[in-house]
Amino acid sequence: MADNNNTKATKGAISIRNVTKIYDPEGVNVMAVDDCSLEIGAGEVCMIVGPSGCGKTTLLNAIAGFHSITKGEIYLDGEMLCGPSKPLADQGADRIVVFQHGALFPWMTLIDNVAYGPKVQETMTKAEALDKAGHMLAEAGLGDVAGKYPGEVSSGMARRAEIVRALINDPKVLLLDEPYRAMDALTKSIMHESLLEVYDRTKVTIFFITHDLEEAIFLGDRVVVMTTRPAKTKTILDVNIERPRDYHVLSSNQFRVLVEDAKDAVHEEAVKAFEAGERELA
Ligand SMILES: Nc1ncnc2c1ncn2[C@@H]1O[C@H](COP(=O)(O)OP(=O)(O)OP(=O)(O)O)[C@@H](O)[C@H]1O
Ligand SMILES: [Mg+2]
Repeated sequence: MADNNNTKATKGAISIRNVTKIYDPEGVNVMAVDDCSLEIGAGEVCMIVGPSGCGKTTLLNAIAGFHSITKGEIYLDGEMLCGPSKPLADQGADRIVVFQHGALFPWMTLIDNVAYGPKVQETMTKAEALDKAGHMLAEAGLGDVAGKYPGEVSSGMARRAEIVRALINDPKVLLLDEPYRAMDALTKSIMHESLLEVYDRTKVTIFFITHDLEEAIFLGDRVVVMTTRPAKTKTILDVNIERPRDYHVLSSNQFRVLVEDAKDAVHEEAVKAFEAGERELA
């Protein structure tokens, strides 16, 4: 699936089987996800798109262990994370979430932020954690600013440091919920290059939610278009563009055609979501 490069990913396969999630705020049921199934291969970059409020974050939260599911099962490398007997997955270092709004500690330097996890979890000694953090920051082009505080570097650098921090414990899966949403186009493009570079090196499985269809096609091995709420998979687009990818891809015909296909699918669902909203208001 995901491997056009030499390193073959062997971990991080996610299996979402017939998952339903019904929220119950004050006794009013909201079905956010309905009988959704999706197989994500080890080392795949799986992009999730769909109308606002359709249930994408709900699915990510279920994989991360932030929210329970109502029905169905989710597996990671064949091991059940959650299912009927255990609706809430344990949170674990094998699945790291990168949030939309930065989560670096502002009172720590970048290197201390990156080394923080293994230090407090005692998976490494302080010296080992700092050594590895320094190494990884340098690989990500942040060697010169490793001793600076998040407030002293650009937002793009801080976001890159967050990805480095997410990867220090060698997780199986990165879960990203619109991480670059608020960024200007240029910073975003630097983020994309940086993430692709990290991916080419690590082959970590990536579950990435976005509203930006160009981002979805540029980064992804597959783009999963969700239906309007409750979420199911509507269409899955295979992105057969070779890796490593660079910005030349954006002007290729193949890229444009895929973006148009994704646009059509998402637009159809967005219209349905809008009409459903109108009906609710009427
Ligand atoms: N804790 C909650 N309690 C009740 N309803 C919720 C809760 N969280 C989400 N919902 C509802 O579930 C539905 C799906 O929400 P979710 O956040 O998963 O959508 P989304 O696809 O991530 O949307 P967006 O693209 O706007 O981020 C929405 O109708 C939302 O209002
Ligand atoms: Mg969301």
